Amino acid sequence: MAELKVAGVSKSYGSLQVLHDVDLDISSGEFVVFVGPSGCGKSTLLRSICGLEDISSGSIHMDGNRIDDIEPSARNIAMVFQSYALYPHMTVAENMGYSLKLKRLPKHEIRAKVEEVGQMLELSPYLDRLPRALSGGQRQRVAIGRAILRNPRVFLFDEPLSNLDAALRVHMRMELVKLKKDLPDTTMIYVTHDQHEAMTMADRIVVLRDGVIEQIGAPKELYDRPDTLFVAQFIGSPKMNLMVGTDAARFGARTVGVRPEHMVISADGCWEGTVTHCEFLGADTHVYVSNNSDEPWVIREEGHVNHSVGDVVRLKPKDGHYYCFDEQGKRVPSPH
Ligand SMILES: Nc1ncnc2c1ncn2[C@@H]1O[C@H](COP(=O)(O)OP(=O)(O)O)[C@@H](O)[C@H]1O
Ligand SMILES: [Mg+2]
Repeated sequence: MAELKVAGVSKSYGSLQVLHDVDLDISSGEFVVFVGPSGCGKSTLLRSICGLEDISSGSIHMDGNRIDDIEPSARNIAMVFQSYALYPHMTVAENMGYSLKLKRLPKHEIRAKVEEVGQMLELSPYLDRLPRALSGGQRQRVAIGRAILRNPRVFLFDEPLSNLDAALRVHMRMELVKLKKDLPDTTMIYVTHDQHEAMTMADRIVVLRDGVIEQIGAPKELYDRPDTLFVAQFIGSPKMNLMVGTDAARFGARTVGVRPEHMVISADGCWEGTVTHCEFLGADTHVYVSNNSDEPWVIREEGHVNHSVGDVVRLKPKDGHYYCFDEQGKRVPSPH
């Protein structure tokens, strides 16, 4: 059990206010992912929760008890960073079991626990190696194992995979999902700028923008029903296409958004543009179409499709799959 409550938290560094009155309730055992542009306050919020930063106002509670005024070490929260600081002169097993040694557990008990967690993280063959004899992914797993052995009630991860190569990131993503299943009562908060991580790992995603929570919801909820243009553009890759000016006015909106998979090229389309580029990605093709806005539209078509560069094409949203936004960027009901 570890329920977290962030209530009206603000944080300033000197005259720079980084978090603005943030309210957030996280259930016990939930996996919550923070996303948002660089500098929006994700790390600051995470560091405030574990106590590496003092908050300027508001309060933080765990299971109903206030924790923002107690020492970080007393909060029972473990944090895993992007750069995993392992002790270079200690073996993997010693690194992992360090907190248990400090608690003066008998050696054989420490070894048993280290072996159990080592197995869970597929580190069994490496327990007696020094960190320098491990790959980046293995070292990151040691850092995670060390955090697990502290038996925290809350786990915080700040972009833990961003230093790893793409293949390893995918592998570690699955490992972490498995870890979450193995620790059903442990609450986890995970910061990432990686779309795939956010969509595949989160029970709920928190979208932060300039120190304010823009929207909170399950991945599918944010994808299907973004409240704002910002969320609509932030969740989903390639980004949602935007129609502005007269292209949007015919829908009675300031901006109309259509996801790349919902854009179709069709002779009776309502929008017109010129094909500038086709990207064949294997399972699908991204067709780039220039128009009278700054960014080209992207259409995702299944399989291998070839349009000639320079072709003028007409486009429309598939089956009413489009979103309307007002001048403040708030989503408004679509005309039909
Ligand atoms: N120790 C600090 N002193 C002053 N400004 C800071 C400090 N840490 C972070 N900031 C500023 O706070 C803002 C939010 O930073 P951060 O929480 O690290 O963003 P994110 O993790 O979302 O990229 C940024 O503008 C950053 O420059
Ligand atoms: Mg950060």
